[in-house]
Formats: sequence, structure tokens, C-alpha cells
Amino acid sequence: MEAIISLAKRRGFVYPGSEIYGGMAGMYDFGPYGVELMNNLKASWWKEYVQKRDDYVGIDSAMFKDPRVWDASGHTSGFSDPLAECKVCNTRIRVDKELEKIGVAADEKMTEAELNKLFDENRSKIKCPKCGAMEFTPVRAFNLLVKTNMGDLTGDNAEPTYLPGEACQGIYLNFKNVVDTTRMKIPFGIVQIGKAFRNEISPRNFLFRTREFEQADTQYFVRPHENKEAYEKIKQDRFDWYVKMGIKKENLRFKQHENLVFYASDAWDIEYNYPSYGFDELEGVHDRTDYDLTQHSKFSGTDLSYKDPYTGEKYIPWILETSVGLGRMFLAFLSDAYQEEEINGETRTVLKLAPELAPVKVAVFPLLKNKPELVAKAREVYDILKESVKCEWDDNGNIGKRYRRQDEIGTPRCVTIDFQTLEDNTVTVRDRDTTEQKRISIQDLLV
Ligand code: GAP
Repeated sequence: MEAIISLAKRRGFVYPGSEIYGGMAGMYDFGPYGVELMNNLKASWWKEYVQKRDDYVGIDSAMFKDPRVWDASGHTSGFSDPLAECKVCNTRIRVDKELEKIGVAADEKMTEAELNKLFDENRSKIKCPKCGAMEFTPVRAFNLLVKTNMGDLTGDNAEPTYLPGEACQGIYLNFKNVVDTTRMKIPFGIVQIGKAFRNEISPRNFLFRTREFEQADTQYFVRPHENKEAYEKIKQDRFDWYVKMGIKKENLRFKQHENLVFYASDAWDIEYNYPSYGFDELEGVHDRTDYDLTQHSKFSGTDLSYKDPYTGEKYIPWILETSVGLGRMFLAFLSDAYQEEEINGETRTVLKLAPELAPVKVAVFPLLKNKPELVAKAREVYDILKESVKCEWDDNGNIGKRYRRQDEIGTPRCVTIDFQTLEDNTVTVRDRDTTEQKRISIQDLLV
């Protein structure tokens, strides 16, 4: 993981947030190649649902929502992590995670009193991860929602609005709008990519747990009790998508939740085998029953039941959700693609990303940068190619070095323009994965 984090910084994929001020915990910025990879991940995911499936549509909802949304969803009362503080060095620990490390499962539905009892029973086995002391404050439920003063002009923050704790709420708020304004009929899904913010007690493991992140959500609306078969299919589809996009199957697995969050009747994670950390959650697949639309009907006073246009039957639809943090998705794809290989006695670092995801699709090199006729011809090819794909120009250093630079960022093809090009309009195309070089005509390059 250290090597991956170092490459991510060195090659402009990911920078620590607010770095010139010393950094800010749980915040990261995406650099020039990072934003390309991220945009490609989002585009491939979006295409899978909104373009290739007839039963999904996409939306993009406002981040700020009526504060009652978070009461209805259960977040203002129930969206918390159990926190205790080391009395010696003031490090805050997530009690459920520390209990998990010693094989004790803390239930998400436990009250503060129940958690304190469990913590007290196991105190003798829990050490502060920073200083090793074993003296902690009592456990307190720490709400993860991030408050803001948007729209509160009094300045006393008496009526806080919240940044979204999860992106999916925007989909529930627009369920009725989508039904009323499109021809979608149940079963159908709505997807969205949206930001989420959580006051995580201990952001950790690079992009894995951050305080600001984006979620790619699908919410599938079904008739009550017609959830099981659709749930299994949705779960498997998500797993298969990762494999199709290039993640090694052996690095993925399913894991069922033992302790369900307050809204779910069944929940599975798709886990990824992160380097150094091992298997951990990548994406959640949740069977949310009728919880969300029932709650929003109750709290808003707007009837969110669905009337079947053929049978006239009226019901609150059940919801099957998939939700993945795009930072985690980015980390999984970067980790899976990262390889160090020995070629002709030299080690090369290469990102074997699926071409669809690669930040740069083609790099164009004039063999020599001091030969104007080669540079002019290479520019001609470059200008044509960049009309259709993301290209990069490189005329610096020897060709071997240029290949290494492109390997490190995952560019699938490098095109070199040499003296033969001037005679017969052919170029050398070098393949990232095999390192094989072929001579092809410029015409064929453009196909
Ligand atoms: N709407 C359901 C929901 O938000 P979740 O399991 O809390 O469920 C879904 O989050 C996904 O969002 C997770 O599987 C993970 O990929 C991502 N995620 C959650 N918390 C995160 C964090 N602090 N940093 C990065 N990604 C996170």
C-alpha cells in the first residue's frame, strides 16, 4: 500500500487535502491523472445503468436538504459511532472497532448503556492504539452528521442544516417526481452519484475511510415482498461488474452483515482484498424494505405510495440499494492494477488498468525532439487522436524512459513517429501489457 500511495502522490493521482497547511485528516484531492481515472470510473458505472439498462434512470439532487429529511431517515438520532477517549493521550477510539479486534461484536442497535457495559467487561483487553494506556472515558454515541449554518441567518446555528450523511436520500426525495414525470414502472431503479460527509472518529487507510467522499448509489424499487430474487441478482451483478472492469476475482468476496443498520432487513458487503489491510468493505448491498418511503411519507406528509397503472394496486415500494464509495472503488482499481515487473533485468511499475479506465488512452512520441519534420508529423497524429480520446504528448528523454512514464500511469498504447513514418505513413505502436511493438499505418491507428 505504501508503494501505491507513493505512486499516487508522485504521479499526480491523489494529494493529501490542504497539504500546504500541513494536511487535514480524512481529506484528499485528486490530481490530473486521478481525476481522469475517477471520471472514467464514474462514466463506466453510469453507462452500466443509465445507458445499458432500460429499467434505470439517473438523477442529481441538491446536497442541502430540508433538515427533516435527516430526522425521517433516522440519521439525527441513530447515525452514530461509539466513541471513547484515552485518558492519557486523548486519542479517540471507535469502541466497536476495538472490540471487534478482540473478537467481541458490538451491535449497531445497542444503547449507550449497553455499549458501556460491554466495554467495561472487556476493558482489560483494550489498549490505546497510540500510547498503549488502558484508561478510557465512558463510551458516548458520537453522531456522524456534519452540521452547517446554510440558510440560518441568525448566526446562532439554532436550526442546523446538514451535509448529506449518505447520498441516497436525494433519490427517495425524488421517487415521486420520477414516477410522475417519466414512464418508469415498478420494478425500476434510480441511480445517483453524490457527495457524502461523515464526522468519522478515525479516518484511516488513505482513501478507505475519509470524512468527505462520493457515493455511487443504485436504488431499485420493487413490489412489497418481491425483494429476495431481485436482491440476489443485484448483488451478483455488482460483483460481476467489478470482474468485468478488471478486478481479479480472487480479490473480491461477499460478506453478510451480522449486525444490521437501523434500516436494513438484509445486508451484504462486497469486500476487496486491499494490499496491507486485507479484505474489507468495498460496496454495500442493502435490502431496505419500505423503511425509507414510509418514513418520508410520514415526516413530509406527502403520500409516496405507488399506484400500479395496470392493476390499480397501491403500495409503498420496497427498496434494494447498492452503495459504493468512489474513493474505495478508486483505491481497489488502483491497487488491483498496480504491478512491479521484471523486464530484461529492469523493474518496471505498471498500472494494468482496463483501457476504458486508463487516464490517458494513447501517448504520442516523436522519436527525436530536435528533428522538426518528425515533430511536425507527430503533432499531426496527436492532433487527430486527441479529438476522440485523451492523449498525451511526450518528447522528453529516450523512448524507454517515455514508455516507463506511461506504464506508471497505465497508458495502454504508445505511438512513436520515426523516419520511416515520413516515408510510408506507418508508426510503431507499443502495447503496455505485453510490451510488444507493431508497425501499423496511421489510417489503422485511427479506426
Ligand atoms: N446509503 C447506504 C450507505 O451509505 P454505508 O454502508 O454507510 O451505506 C456505503 O456506505 C458505502 O460508502 C460503503 O460501502 C463504502 O464504500 C462507502 N463509505 C462509507 N463510509 C465511508 C467513508 N468514511 N469513507 C469512504 N467511503 C465510505
